[in-house]
Amino acid sequence: MGNQFLEAATEIALEAGKILLSEFDQPVRISYKGEVDLVTQADRRSEQAIVARLRSYFPEHAIVAEEGGGQETDSPFRWFVDPLDGTTNFAHGYPCFAVSIGFEEAGELLAGAIYQPVSRELFTAAKGEGAFLNGKAIRVSPIGQLATSLLATGFPSVKRARHPNIHYYWNYTLRSHGVRRDGSAALDLASVACGRFEGFWEFGLHSWDTAAGVLLVREAGGVVTNFNGQPYHPGDYETLASNGRIHEEMRLLGSDISCGTDQGLNEVSRAGEASGE
Ligand code: IPD
Ligand code: CA
Ligand code: CA
Repeated sequence: MGNQFLEAATEIALEAGKILLSEFDQPVRISYKGEVDLVTQADRRSEQAIVARLRSYFPEHAIVAEEGGGQETDSPFRWFVDPLDGTTNFAHGYPCFAVSIGFEEAGELLAGAIYQPVSRELFTAAKGEGAFLNGKAIRVSPIGQLATSLLATGFPSVKRARHPNIHYYWNYTLRSHGVRRDGSAALDLASVACGRFEGFWEFGLHSWDTAAGVLLVREAGGVVTNFNGQPYHPGDYETLASNGRIHEEMRLLGSDISCGTDQGLNEVSRAGEASGE
């Protein structure tokens, strides 16, 4: 099973978390990869440490790492590394960020660790063995309706003005207790896994953002699909994660919004047309 891999992911995530904390105390120098796509020395140092350790433990394995330090091999074993999920938060001193390390064999997620070093929360999961927060088993929330749910989403860092997620945000907000936008997809998924959020959706996430979090949600009893209800695979364009109980309600509303048949979305469109947008 995934245990030796989970042990490695956990050990390495804790180590990388120490690097992030030490950098969090320093003045931040920001570079830009895109419009508002930030990268800092902390992203780079954390990735170097993670990849070096993975390579020394598993020299044959493939590594997909956000800042480009990974390696492609023909091994069926693959690591997904986000050395700092929540870079924008980090750069502004907002203490919501994490290290995320996921692991798969032949396309099947086997292990994942997400570590939030400020709150010292370590989320771990191994396929078939459950999900844990600081060693205690976690489960998704029992809430059964969207109307009494708390949700989360995120917005892409490129082409923001044209992205339709604002319509999803508007619709889900009006039909729930609210939608949080906390700036770390890995922690959003971990929060679904431990029952803080009932649901989460986002578009255009990368495999390194989601691999560990998706396994956490599933091992905690939740569901992760696209808006057609097909099982989600790391790197798919649509991510819809929930406690399972509100999944169909979230999914159907999302499909309505994307078709533009939803009453609220039509109102938004009409308001836009009236104002000449
Ligand atoms: C970002 C965060 C954010 C999400 C963005 C991601 P990064 O990752 O997960 O919550 O909305 O789409 O790119 O760049 O901070 O690793
Ligand atoms: Ca990320
Ligand atoms: Ca990142």
